[in-house]
Amino acid sequence: MSAKGRSETSTAAAAVGESGTRVLCVCGARPNFMKVAPLVEVLNRTAGVQTSLVHTGQHYDECMSRLFFQELGIPRPDVNLDVGSASHAVQTAEVMKRFEPICHRFRPHWVVVVGDVNSTLAAALTAAKLGVRVAHVEAGLRSFDRNMPEEINRILTDAISDLLFVSEPSGMENLRREGVAEGKAHLVGNVMIDTLLRMRRQAEQSVILADLGLQSRQYAVVTLHRPDNVDRPEAFAGVLSALERIAADVPVVFPMHPRSRHNLERFGLAARAYGISRLKVTEPLGYLDFLKLTAEAAAVLTDSGGIQEETTILNVPCLTLRDNTERPITITHGTNRLVGHEPEAVVRAFHEVRSHSRPPVRPPEGWDGRAAERIVAILLARR
Ligand code: UD1
Repeated sequence: MSAKGRSETSTAAAAVGESGTRVLCVCGARPNFMKVAPLVEVLNRTAGVQTSLVHTGQHYDECMSRLFFQELGIPRPDVNLDVGSASHAVQTAEVMKRFEPICHRFRPHWVVVVGDVNSTLAAALTAAKLGVRVAHVEAGLRSFDRNMPEEINRILTDAISDLLFVSEPSGMENLRREGVAEGKAHLVGNVMIDTLLRMRRQAEQSVILADLGLQSRQYAVVTLHRPDNVDRPEAFAGVLSALERIAADVPVVFPMHPRSRHNLERFGLAARAYGISRLKVTEPLGYLDFLKLTAEAAAVLTDSGGIQEETTILNVPCLTLRDNTERPITITHGTNRLVGHEPEAVVRAFHEVRSHSRPPVRPPEGWDGRAAERIVAILLARR
């Protein structure tokens, strides 16, 4: 742990008293930050609760981490474990090694983990083995594809958690089928949407469209970082050939994840990508700029989980470059479509959604900005 991590730990430990319910929230990677933000906010304003926040340091770049804390008003973490990038085994093990002494020091009644990243599983496993109760937010989602590291993280985290907070009905069905005891799983809605609804007005002020020279509804947004799309040269080249054809029609903005950027360069595809006229490759964007960009887009092409949900609320057509989704409600709601990886199919789907009108969609149950409140109420009733 860095000197910075150590000094933050001792300050926070001094603040932890004996009374009240001690809740330790854990976050580590970009998609965790918008989920943990409303939970910390509600916990902090709830009497009788002492909330601490641990950042594992899985994501550490300014644009992948600190910017989100600033924009979402998340308090500075009490501890940063500084684990950084590594293989899955090493990253998971490092979080466990560094999180265990934090659990001893803070003696939480609950450890709250969110999402499905390596930090989620590592923190849950550490706490469960110490006999600390674990609450998993965004439980029950299943892609039924164990080639995805996130699917393994989800299954294992759910199996060792004491409370499971679920964002959509499919999650309740999956948990029931897996034999989860009645009363352990709660359909509470979507904390990521809590954040979206809270930040939406502020995002409207973003000048990102003007900065990039874009007109509302006249461009596409792309985000891709999963192994299936960017870890093999042929797969990444296929993505680029689809983007070449879409960019012939409308400008395309691609805020590129560091993993994708790294592979683009390693595979010798950078010149081809940067040479596509009207394809704008940018650094990963902050929350507000990205929300504005998505909300005004003609369509979004992605392999992210969270963006499938955000476009559902924004009523923006989403084309998911995967063969499955753990978030089927985004499909049944009509905003999301699985298009696989074939360039031809991706381009065809893009033209179809461009030419269709968009009937208004009703938000899924509990995607109403109050999921974190429901979660905290259930958590505290279990003390
Ligand atoms: C992780 C999550 C994934 C989530 C994604 C969102 C797991 C298994 N995966 O994938 O579910 O959708 O975050 O971003 O936990 N890197 C940087 N700077 C950073 C972070 C990463 O340069 O701040 C680079 C490093 O080269 C690193 C690579 O990105 O090796 C991958 O980072 P990692 O956190 O291991 O996985 P993600 O692909 O980001």
